Amino acid sequence: MSVGGRSADPPRTSPARDTGATRARWLEVELPWRGTDRLGAPLELRRATPSDATAWIEHLSRITVETPWMLQSAEDPLPTSLEQRTLLEEYDAREGSLAILAQRPGGDRSDGAARILGTLTLASGRSRRTEHAAELSMGVGRAYWGRGIGALLMGAGLTWAKRNHILKRVSLSVFQDNEVARRLYERVGFATEGVLRRYVRLPPAGDASGTHRYEDLVVMGLWLGEP
Ligand SMILES: CC(C)(COP(=O)(O)OP(=O)(O)OC[C@H]1O[C@@H](n2cnc3c(N)ncnc32)[C@H](O)[C@@H]1OP(=O)(O)O)[C@@H](O)C(=O)NCCC(=O)NCCS
Repeated sequence: MSVGGRSADPPRTSPARDTGATRARWLEVELPWRGTDRLGAPLELRRATPSDATAWIEHLSRITVETPWMLQSAEDPLPTSLEQRTLLEEYDAREGSLAILAQRPGGDRSDGAARILGTLTLASGRSRRTEHAAELSMGVGRAYWGRGIGALLMGAGLTWAKRNHILKRVSLSVFQDNEVARRLYERVGFATEGVLRRYVRLPPAGDASGTHRYEDLVVMGLWLGEP
């Protein structure tokens, strides 16, 4: 795998924070990045641009039906292309915010564009007192799970965040039972900061006459500044 699109060296790892028992680390990934996924297929990670709005919405619409672990569900409206364009412009313009995507280089759709395989966003706080804190959100298409794309996206996001002049903290929320995601977050240094009990309401299993289920949401945080 190459880092920064040039070197054939394997991705380096960066110290994240000392969690006590183990020293957590993430992959150091410079954007734009070109290499291969764990199964050897070509892969590119880069910052999203407003022109990625339509492909971004297609990705969102796929992952909201493929997985139960998103706060947005298939019943919720997706942004329009124009709204998504504006959102991507904002990620680009705000100093503590970032939107990254993973795709096959060179395009793999009939229109020559490339399907988005995974995304990661960092959105910094909107006030002077919270602009050092970014909220992270990510999702990889189910067909591409387990190929190392999530770890690469996380590495690229945290490599960027660590160098950013404003950001000092990243937080995220994850379903209590989403063990794969929680392990990934713990490995790079996120620690559990709280549990929002029964925060997520899920539709009744089976027929609609059943009762809703409520799931806990775990809030995790990672400090990027000096201890
Ligand atoms: C969580 C998620 C982002 C991980 O992305 P991914 O591309 O599959 O992640 P990776 O391939 O980099 O794998 C990360 C680790 O999880 C492990 N893993 C991945 N899929 C797994 C599975 N189905 N079962 C067990 N372990 C799995 C990998 O082996 C890897 O561990 P390792 O580095 O020790 O080998 C992805 O599963 C996803 O988008 N899920 C649905 C949406 C979601 O949960 N988003 C997060 C909301 S907070």
